[in-house]
Amino acid sequence: MSGSIYKRPIFFIIVVTVVILIGTTVMMVYPLFSSEMHPKMANLKPYTALQLAGRDVYIENGCYYCHSQMIRPLKADVMRYGEYSKAGEFTYDQPFLWGSKRKGPDLARIGGKYNDKWHYEHLNNPRKLFQGSNMPAYGWLAKYPIDPQEMEASMKALGFPYTKDEIAALAGKTKLDALVAYLQNLGTVIPKAAKVSVAGKSELVNDAATIADGKKLFETNCVGCHGADGKGGPAGPNLTDKVWLNVAKPVSDETLFTIISEGTKEGKVIDGRTAKGGMPEWDELLGKKKIWSLVSYIRSIEAK
Ligand code: HEC
Ligand code: HEC
Repeated sequence: MSGSIYKRPIFFIIVVTVVILIGTTVMMVYPLFSSEMHPKMANLKPYTALQLAGRDVYIENGCYYCHSQMIRPLKADVMRYGEYSKAGEFTYDQPFLWGSKRKGPDLARIGGKYNDKWHYEHLNNPRKLFQGSNMPAYGWLAKYPIDPQEMEASMKALGFPYTKDEIAALAGKTKLDALVAYLQNLGTVIPKAAKVSVAGKSELVNDAATIADGKKLFETNCVGCHGADGKGGPAGPNLTDKVWLNVAKPVSDETLFTIISEGTKEGKVIDGRTAKGGMPEWDELLGKKKIWSLVSYIRSIEAK
């Protein structure tokens, strides 16, 4: 009986087609109409003139040779870069810049990860923030002004809305300014996922090995902004003085943990201190144990 179907080719083709169609319906048609595959992009906006100019700079300089802009729905990708990319996020990308190579990290959620100052420092000299980085320096972009007329024509051609004021505001802006504005907008349509590790009770360990671990982590992740030995740098405050989040009052281990884990945004209040913003969050990247060793290190360098 089971062998007889192979002797009836036409019937066999029909059965195979029906089975494949069922598979297609489940795999394609269902997701096409299910709302979880198409989350509403409440914050989705077309690029501003400056951001669009920055996108051109990104394309001109082949940033996509080394950077992708597409986070796959794989655990490793999501842990490293954040929420995976959704189709709707690329509505205004013509063409999209997903890229295919990751010589450098994915940039799909780079917006808001660092402050503007960090990006200027990094683009001026990537080696200053990441020892041994192979990313070229792009500080020279600051010598090239954006041409407002050209951008107006470009906005028109792409059908993006703009105002005369927006075009006028481009005067005096350089390609570097535009690039930073573009980067800071990337991936900001999707709100950030909730935090995983919270401070809880202090887990501070004050032995030499933990402090040495913290020091190493500090040197790879933090000196770019906070300067060597945390004495203050181009884009972050001194960590050895007695001022914490702009208040001259001793700080608890838990508060230090929270600042490093969650980062700060302008106006965010942590332990009665109002942040100015610009401290990135390290929760996903480093995790609880490493953040506690950083706290141990900071405790070892702070003014006694
Ligand atoms: C030759 C490859 C290469 C090119 C070209 C390149 N990058 Fe990078 N980029 C890297 C590498 C490697 C890193 C990781 C180390 C570092 O930050 O320097 C990086 C890191 C970055 C980061 C920080 C990412 C993070 O999450 O910390 C940003 C932002 C960035 N690049 C932007 C750019 C922009 C914008 C361009 C084009 C103007 C560009 N890159 C061109 C290799 C490259
Ligand atoms: C992109 C630059 C940047 C990087 C990288 C950075 N920070 Fe910060 N950090 C800041 C800024 C800016 C503030 C001030 C935040 C505010 O006022 O809202 C800050 C504040 C802090 C504070 C509160 C201290 C104070 O005096 O206000 C601590 C502690 C801290 N950072 C630790 C770290 C550690 C540890 C790392 C590395 C894992 C790190 N930071 C990496 C920019 C940075």
